[in-house]
Amino acid sequence: MEADHGHRWLRWPSSQARARLAFGADYNPEQWPREVWDEDMRAMRAAGVNIVSLAIFSWARIQPAQDVWDFGWLDDAMDLLHAHGIAVDLATATASPPPWLTTKHPEILPVDQNGHTVWPGARQHWRPTSPVFREHALRLTRALAERYGRHPALAAWHVSNELGCHNVYDFSDDAATAFRAWLRSRYGTLEELNRAWATAFWSQHYSDWAQILPPRLAASYPNPTQQLDFKRFSSDALKDHLRAERDVLREVTPDVPVTTNFMVMGGTKGMNYADWAGEVDFVSNDHYLLTGPQAQDELSFSANLTGSLAGARPWYLMEHSTSAVNWQPVNLAKKPGGMARDSLTHVAYGADAVCFFQWRQSAGGAEKYHSAMLPHAGEDSEVFRAVTELGATLAALAPVAGTRRSRAAAAIVFDWESWWASELDSHPTSLLRYRQEALDWYSAFLAAGVRVDIVSPADDFTGYQMLVAPILHVVPGALGRRLENYVASGGHLVTTYFSGIVDEDDHVWLGGYPGALRDVLGIRIQEFGPLPAGDAVDLDLGVAGTLWTDRIELTDTATEVLASYKTGDQAGRPAITVRRTKAGSASYVSTRLGPDGLSVVLPRLLDIGEVASDLPPEARGLVEVAVRTDETDDYWFLINRTDRHVDLSAVEGVPLQGPSLAADAILGPRQVRVLRRPRH
Ligand code: GLA
Ligand code: GLA
Repeated sequence: MEADHGHRWLRWPSSQARARLAFGADYNPEQWPREVWDEDMRAMRAAGVNIVSLAIFSWARIQPAQDVWDFGWLDDAMDLLHAHGIAVDLATATASPPPWLTTKHPEILPVDQNGHTVWPGARQHWRPTSPVFREHALRLTRALAERYGRHPALAAWHVSNELGCHNVYDFSDDAATAFRAWLRSRYGTLEELNRAWATAFWSQHYSDWAQILPPRLAASYPNPTQQLDFKRFSSDALKDHLRAERDVLREVTPDVPVTTNFMVMGGTKGMNYADWAGEVDFVSNDHYLLTGPQAQDELSFSANLTGSLAGARPWYLMEHSTSAVNWQPVNLAKKPGGMARDSLTHVAYGADAVCFFQWRQSAGGAEKYHSAMLPHAGEDSEVFRAVTELGATLAALAPVAGTRRSRAAAAIVFDWESWWASELDSHPTSLLRYRQEALDWYSAFLAAGVRVDIVSPADDFTGYQMLVAPILHVVPGALGRRLENYVASGGHLVTTYFSGIVDEDDHVWLGGYPGALRDVLGIRIQEFGPLPAGDAVDLDLGVAGTLWTDRIELTDTATEVLASYKTGDQAGRPAITVRRTKAGSASYVSTRLGPDGLSVVLPRLLDIGEVASDLPPEARGLVEVAVRTDETDDYWFLINRTDRHVDLSAVEGVPLQGPSLAADAILGPRQVRVLRRPRH
């Protein structure tokens, strides 16, 4: 990463340089007649909008044919926004190639695992590795950079859009060529690749690089290391596209920060964002509230993880929704207060921008039933009133702009490599869900009212009293040693089933499970005991396990049993163990306890790690607390997770908005209070 680009945030017009939170949306004026734009400006100002993302899907409009350019409408939109004091995060417009391009160059279209072409008709129908696509995309990027680089409304560049949302895995011939080049640079020699891929198995030995293919439709399970490498490669191929557009932008406009919107949410796992975060000037994320009992926790988890990717930098919530989306099986409207709570939860974890997809709800097209800031019903609507109220709240929260997240005492280790590898096929179970296990631990922290960070295995663990590493499946030798040192120097490590099993080549650590973590945990397992779907076993702590069990032997006199199985094949044997060292400990949870079971077990582990809640007992579990900080003050975000009223009288601080706690200490359903507390 270029050091001088590392900490740059939005370039606000100089007339508006004061600290503020950004507020706005994707703006798609090309979907509307020109007279509507004037109404948009008035309504944006009424709502407190100060930034929009423009031209995300405008390629066909900007470049209607290979050598025909139409910038007039975009000049007009940029000037109009600027005249109304609204800054622009301008897209490079390369997300959806126009029909003239795919007709002339069908070789840019992706190919799926079965050899089917992914045809145009939706969006993002391009191969990340196509040299032809790259050339056209960079030409457009350069044209926009040259035309708008000095425009006073321009606050940032927005590379493409949600890279990899639909095109992360491409199995085309271009992908095959690029995959071979990627493998050459990873392994150097074919011998090394053959070793890493264990090609002695099933007669897969390669004698020429040209023989290697992406893991296309195969007769049985494709080689697992080939699959893992293809995931690594696919993330890198998109990252390479990001860098290519970014480098053009930096060449033409070195003073304008560059971002792209990540998708840290739900099951989106193709892009290793821990590896991407250093490539942008500031991190942006898109997050949509899912449905189900852990939806709110999942939002918080994603915001927290995004904040951790951003590091010391503020980050930009590029998209979320005011109410329903259009792409879930059933699309629920948000409850009153829900939108503001969602927005402010992102701010709590370091977002300095709160933006939506999109400004004005479309009348036509695939997303016409997706909510927006200005809904079909118009300005006389609850959504628009709530949007306007949110704009005022964010203005009152201006003091938090530019503050950093305050470090928690505990952290969850989140690892894309373990996510990818643990969910490959032909494993002890196909039911394991890596991110769900991490989320369940996160929910247990929320239930305990204890703040927790999310870190990557590459991060520095020192300073964390407790590290929870759920399903840390891939443990290269160096990581195993770092975890041993962490425990030896007083850290409290907690890990779970199917952790420590393989190295970076997806080869099993021999001698008994959990391989690389066997010594630090002081246990040994000879055979896995996964459970059939629907089966549960009881533990003596009054909780039940599903998915997995292990037959655990204690191999160190310092290893104690924290809980045992009461039923099932392992009845009477250890289910949860802890090995205590002089100052630290290493605990192992051998089954899936889910959020409810973990909310019973985690407090015991927190006791061992001496990690405490910041909240008064009556608020724990009901209120989520996140803390931002600067030189003089802490800012406590208190987020009501429930539909109940919560009493905050035992909490100290001065609200940045709304009544003082002395006047009103009740946090209503879904409400958020932000308290300023001087640092001692
Ligand atoms: C993504 C895209 C947007 C829109 C939203 C809908 O985030 O970036 O263009 O499709 O989803 O939720
Ligand atoms: C078949 C094959 C073996 C092996 C086993 C695994 O029997 O012949 O090579 O794959 O299945 O169950």
